[in-house]
Amino acid sequence: MSSALIDLQRITKSYRQGDLPIDVLKGIDLQIAAGEFVALLGPSGSGKSTLMHILGLLDRPTSGAYFLDGSDVAGLDDDQLSALRNRKIGFVFQTFYLIPYLTALENVVLPGLYGQESGATIRRRAQEILQQVGLSDRMDFRPSQLSGGQQQRVAIARALLNDPPVLLADEPTGQLDSTTSQEIMELISQINRQGRTVILVTHDIATAACAQRRIELNDGLVCRD
Ligand SMILES: Nc1ncnc2c1ncn2[C@@H]1O[C@H](COP(=O)(O)OP(=O)(O)O)[C@@H](O)[C@H]1O
Ligand SMILES: [Mg+2]
Repeated sequence: MSSALIDLQRITKSYRQGDLPIDVLKGIDLQIAAGEFVALLGPSGSGKSTLMHILGLLDRPTSGAYFLDGSDVAGLDDDQLSALRNRKIGFVFQTFYLIPYLTALENVVLPGLYGQESGATIRRRAQEILQQVGLSDRMDFRPSQLSGGQQQRVAIARALLNDPPVLLADEPTGQLDSTTSQEIMELISQINRQGRTVILVTHDIATAACAQRRIELNDGLVCRD
């Protein structure tokens, strides 16, 4: 067993397009220790999002092994995977995926509804996190009343609600202007300094420079680490 928080061994992923198999990941070996800040780079279509979905337990690999915090996730059924994802993983996307008819606070509260805690406890924690990400005065706003950067802050707060040790961010600044991108990257760096493992997909060299480690995907393999 490995001591890495994340341990991928010979991970492959193929999609079927009609009769044609498309081999997107062709044998990824990757170990990431707790507390690392990793940038994942590579050309469009190189499989970055596919790899993030596997890391985030949103999708299963075609073959290979994934150990998350020592446990082999292949043995888990869908309910167990969801439970593990809820505890361990926060996910942030390029498009924020906020629910438009809910307020910022209600969006952040959502991932807490599956757990055991009382509504009041969850609400209090959501308020604290929104405060931490700089939105104390925007909690009752709906997404359409917020700027792109503010919406991404809400999405980040939602990702942190269950206090996950791992934050996955797939091009989190892809829809933001450069000043707002810098602010969001500063927030994500701060989240890493608090001790969370961060894995970030980006196209942008300046964004990747925030990370301590850069991993490049090409043609389904890690070509540089
Ligand atoms: N659900 C899917 N079904 C079929 N092909 C897919 C699917 N998701 C992604 N692909 C293909 O896999 C390749 C890698 O996609 P993706 O992981 O999104 O790359 P990246 O994020 O690096 O741009 C692309 O060629 C894409 O068309
Ligand atoms: Mg992608």
